[in-house]
Amino acid sequence: MRFPLVLFFLQFSLLSIHSEFSQHRTEILAADGSYVLHWSIDYVAKVVRFNATVATRGYVGFGISPSGGMTGADIVIGGIFENGTAYFSDRHAVGESLPIVDKAQNWDLLNATETTDGVTTLIFERAFNTCDDEDVVLSNDTTNFIWAYSPTNSDDVVYHTSGFRGTLTVQPLDPEVPPLDPGHWSQYDIKHTMTMPDADTTYWCTIHRSPVFTEKHHIVAFEPLLTSSEAIAHTHHYNIFRCTPPDGVDAETFFGPHVDAGVGGECYVAQPEVPTAYCQTMFYNWAVGGRTLVLPPNIGYPIGETGNPVDYYMFEIHYNNPTRLQNVTFETGAIIYYTPELRQHDAGLMVVAHHTSLSLTVPPNSTGFKTAGHCDSACTEEYLPEEGINVFAIFLHAHLSGRKMKFRQFRGDQELPWAANDDTYDFEFQQTRPLSKELKILRGDHLTMECTYDTTWYDQSKVVIGGLSTTNEMCQSIFWYYPRAELRDCRSEYPTEEIFAKFGIESANRSTPYEDAIITAPTSLAGMSYTEVLNTRVDWTSELRKAIEQDSLTRPHVGVCWTASETKNIDQIGYPSGIVREYAPRDECNSSLANRLVLTVPIFLGMIFSLIEIV
Ligand SMILES: *[C@@H]1O[C@H](CO)[C@@H](O)[C@H](O)[C@H]1NC(C)=O
Ligand SMILES: *[C@@H]1O[C@H](CO)[C@@H](O)[C@H](O)[C@H]1NC(C)=O
Ligand SMILES: *[C@@H]1O[C@H](CO)[C@@H](O)[C@H](O)[C@H]1NC(C)=O
Ligand SMILES: *[C@@H]1O[C@H](CO)[C@@H](O)[C@H](O)[C@H]1NC(C)=O
Ligand SMILES: *[C@@H]1O[C@H](CO)[C@@H](O)[C@H](O)[C@H]1NC(C)=O
Ligand SMILES: *[C@@H]1O[C@H](CO)[C@@H](O)[C@H](O)[C@H]1NC(C)=O
Ligand SMILES: *[C@@H]1O[C@H](CO)[C@@H](O)[C@H](O)[C@H]1NC(C)=O
Ligand SMILES: *[C@@H]1O[C@H](CO)[C@@H](O)[C@H](O)[C@H]1NC(C)=O
Repeated sequence: MRFPLVLFFLQFSLLSIHSEFSQHRTEILAADGSYVLHWSIDYVAKVVRFNATVATRGYVGFGISPSGGMTGADIVIGGIFENGTAYFSDRHAVGESLPIVDKAQNWDLLNATETTDGVTTLIFERAFNTCDDEDVVLSNDTTNFIWAYSPTNSDDVVYHTSGFRGTLTVQPLDPEVPPLDPGHWSQYDIKHTMTMPDADTTYWCTIHRSPVFTEKHHIVAFEPLLTSSEAIAHTHHYNIFRCTPPDGVDAETFFGPHVDAGVGGECYVAQPEVPTAYCQTMFYNWAVGGRTLVLPPNIGYPIGETGNPVDYYMFEIHYNNPTRLQNVTFETGAIIYYTPELRQHDAGLMVVAHHTSLSLTVPPNSTGFKTAGHCDSACTEEYLPEEGINVFAIFLHAHLSGRKMKFRQFRGDQELPWAANDDTYDFEFQQTRPLSKELKILRGDHLTMECTYDTTWYDQSKVVIGGLSTTNEMCQSIFWYYPRAELRDCRSEYPTEEIFAKFGIESANRSTPYEDAIITAPTSLAGMSYTEVLNTRVDWTSELRKAIEQDSLTRPHVGVCWTASETKNIDQIGYPSGIVREYAPRDECNSSLANRLVLTVPIFLGMIFSLIEIV
């Protein structure tokens, strides 16, 4: 009787290695529908299977390009010859020319068909990481799909003409988002129409109200509402916050007049027109490139709970108008979908960030300048529920100089795998990214948001500082989780006084933390702005650059965390001490014996134990 059991086990283990394609994604690559790509992801076997369905009887090209162009792209070209034989090759491009065939062929063609009415379908597969320098790695990094096909039904692969090629920015390993189901959901919108101010950067805030709810509902989806090309071109991002009136004040009395007035005012000024201080709970955010957000089927964002029949919101729009256009009027908004059919879990949102302030100072012409903001364990310890929280989506936010974004998590003496890591962050493509595996955050975990900037594209003689404009920087993550907890925002910064001291600044006058400061002492610098001093009076040696980066990463930060009702200030925070092992993704391409043993020994032991158990 032992023999069949062993066989059964072996068969089972083979099956579980080649588990299954658990996620299925689709993109219409050519706007006219002539090139449709489906792809399925197997996270266990780490394989992606593509299905390119293209309106041609000639060749079909598909590629993955970190830069978006041909250069550096990993490309396959395939099709079916007149005589019915299929062809397919793994190639790479070194320029805007016919891609070169790779020495190793790592993409596998599984099927090729061509219909008489002229549709070619290619099914092909590849590993996330083929360990071939002539291929690119598929990871959680933002990348681009590039595509092309023969406009003349030709199998003679020539360098493709325009009109039959294109690029799509994509995060290829992200799971699919459930479909929008407007037929079954109710909706309301939060929107604002106005003439965009003719300033480079404007943060405009208006107050809005939800419909009246007589019982609790769940919000299940958010869809951006940008109805014109102007709205798409000039709405850099927006945040919608929920509002809570001061104690003992009726919400309608407090917020109603602002809703009815409708005009709003600038957000980050000393005395804003609207009560921004009472609208601090992040509700939804969107940024350039962002798509519809549909929550997983077991999760809803609660609204209309007892005592709160109407929700009030502050809608903060970041208008980006670098050429200072005048008289441009458009509508910006969001559609909120909700249902009375309550789901299993209530969702919440939380921010982990570096403060947006002068403490974030990037030396001129920097490549790879890193900064980090911390959410100290004291915050998670005090404000998370005992069973912890489960994160299901993350949005990472930086401005034009942001290049790499990493969300780190530390527990005890270990660093856990990165929940989000994008080494090719794309400012033009900011998404609330669903996680393929939910992330657990427990009480006492320390969270760190790391951002890396490149400012060589900017005026090479000027520093970049933290601030609101897209040419200033931010370092933020906003994540969606359940069950809803008290903690809503957690940040830190290297004390601004310390960075001032490095440049001989004794005191400065700032009306808000977001603005450049005016030096008040010493007298030799008085009247100059902080950036003016840094741009004209500082000799940016490589030692100074390194010192700024190192000190802001390693010297104690001042931190803060907020709940709806409390603010907790924490001094002397930084990377947790006593971490014995930092997380490092496994190098799948290291063929050294030591590296392979690390992997195979546990599998081997596991097999032996399973056999013993069966026997
Ligand atoms: C490939 O996609 C096409 C439509 O886009 C579909 O009709 C076809 O069934 C798919 N093939 C496979 C093997 O999934
Ligand atoms: C089919 O056509 C291609 C291209 O002309 C040629 O290379 C290939 O040998 C042909 N195959 C057969 C089976 O005739
Ligand atoms: C290829 O796909 C076609 C159409 O879906 C199917 O009829 C055929 O059996 C497939 N061939 C192989 C080798 O899988
Ligand atoms: C903007 O509109 C106003 C009023 O319609 C008009 O007087 C003004 O000339 C316009 N400005 C520009 C730059 O078009
Ligand atoms: C991508 O992120 C997910 C979390 O959503 C993580 O589980 C996975 O290991 C990451 N994949 C790679 C290839 O880094
Ligand atoms: C900025 O750095 C690049 C190399 O990274 C260098 O070529 C360029 O000269 C630098 N610019 C200035 C103004 O120093
Ligand atoms: C600081 O700025 C405020 C307004 O921006 C101004 O009223 C005040 O005089 C300034 N203080 C100094 C010392 O310059
Ligand atoms: C391969 O892995 C081994 C053991 O994990 C490590 O010592 C070695 O440095 C790695 N080699 C490379 C090229 O990464």
